[in-house]
Amino acid sequence: MREEIKRISDEEIARQHAFARQVRFHPDRPQTYYIVTFGCQMNAHDSEVLAGMLEEMGLTQAAEKTQADLVLHNTCCIRDNAERKALGNVTWLKEIKKERPEMLIGVCGCMIQQADMAEKILKRYPFIDLAFGTGNLYRLPEYLLEAIENRDRVIRVDQEASTLAEGLPVRRESSIKAYINIMYGCNNFCSYCIVPYVRGRERSRRSDDIIREAEALVSSGVKEIMLLGQNVNSYGLDSADTLSFAKLLRRVSETGIERIRFMTSHPKDLSDELIDEMAHNPVIAPHLHLPVQSGNDRILHEMNRRYTREHYLRRVQALRSAMPRIGLTTDLIVAFPGETEQEFSDTLSLVEEVRYDSAYTFIYSPRKGTRAAEMPGAIDPDVASERIERLIAAQERITGKILAGMNGEIAQVLVEGASRRRPNQLTGKSGRNINVNFNGDAADIGKIIPVRVTGAGSNTLRGEKEV
Ligand code: 5AD
Ligand code: SF4
Repeated sequence: MREEIKRISDEEIARQHAFARQVRFHPDRPQTYYIVTFGCQMNAHDSEVLAGMLEEMGLTQAAEKTQADLVLHNTCCIRDNAERKALGNVTWLKEIKKERPEMLIGVCGCMIQQADMAEKILKRYPFIDLAFGTGNLYRLPEYLLEAIENRDRVIRVDQEASTLAEGLPVRRESSIKAYINIMYGCNNFCSYCIVPYVRGRERSRRSDDIIREAEALVSSGVKEIMLLGQNVNSYGLDSADTLSFAKLLRRVSETGIERIRFMTSHPKDLSDELIDEMAHNPVIAPHLHLPVQSGNDRILHEMNRRYTREHYLRRVQALRSAMPRIGLTTDLIVAFPGETEQEFSDTLSLVEEVRYDSAYTFIYSPRKGTRAAEMPGAIDPDVASERIERLIAAQERITGKILAGMNGEIAQVLVEGASRRRPNQLTGKSGRNINVNFNGDAADIGKIIPVRVTGAGSNTLRGEKEV
């Protein structure tokens, strides 16, 4: 399946800005909005762009979802439960809309980009007023104007996913940390994964555009940037005018930003050049999220991951010999079709061997249209639950030991604000991406400060500000 990559022209973006102005001065436009976001950081950042566009159109954020004139759901479909949660949320609003018929209900994002979705929404969800996929997010002003003027439903899905738009407004959630998208889409087609179908082919933003965005963030006082992409290690491979990912990291680190993180790395593309850059560039946080998915070679092959357990372990070794203190995290799937007890135990043993700081664990969920969904050997749900519980228990033990071993260390914490559980304490993340709670004063919010670790909970550290 080949899909053309389409860079959205400046003229088209200008056209959207013109629609935005028309909405802004339209007497019947919604006054307030509320965005409900599901899924990953990529979606969280897309929601910041959606909010930016809505504010350009004059809307302001409502304090409560039920009070908003426009409620937009930015959805995820990575697993069945993500999809059910999104649909449940949308359907719940149907009742509110009965009392406030002027409320517009919108749905966008990955769930909508799936094949047959337009038809399903038209027929089965008549209370959805506005729907669009990931590939045409930049056209929100045009769609909203159409919905207001025609007082009719605007369902624009099932279009190309591989678009790349620059120059959209962004309303960022935090003034301390910021996301920058460096590439969109994925070419890997892991057999279980829906992402390549709903996010389209890999397309990298121009490095100059990324650097400009980073520079603007630095001047506005942002301390940490997270570079986002489904597979950041293949940044630039799709076009000639961009740098390698390692060189891009170097350039971003030269903007004056204090800390850089990035997500997600594919183990097959993790280069020595990147490891070297991480090891020698103090601005890059000493943390790597390196999803392994399984510890068994046959399952990895069936998953189309294109590396072996051995290759993965060698990459981990290379990372640790260059950076002995690096924190590693991962994603793991249990109960992939046909997974035997022995194959699952290979995942357990890999987790014991690598000793991740933490891991996201998932039960395999069949996604329509993917190769794995056609594979025989579905695992009994009780067996799947039992496996994930064993895996979680193993990881919890490891996390506990790693955190306990940090006692007395100095963590460099980017202070984000008051702790939710203990409002008289501050909270932030260490370089290794571990939450640290400590006594400090509000003047430290927004700064990276040294904190001496004095204790550990199940997945957080406690500490004292080092003076
Ligand atoms: N079932 C379960 N987990 C999945 N992931 C992706 N697709 C599926 C699926 N069909 C997990 C992978 C990936 C993370 C973002 O979600 O572990 O790394
Ligand atoms: Fe999905 Fe694999 Fe692409 Fe990650 S690399 S988004 S798991 S297809």
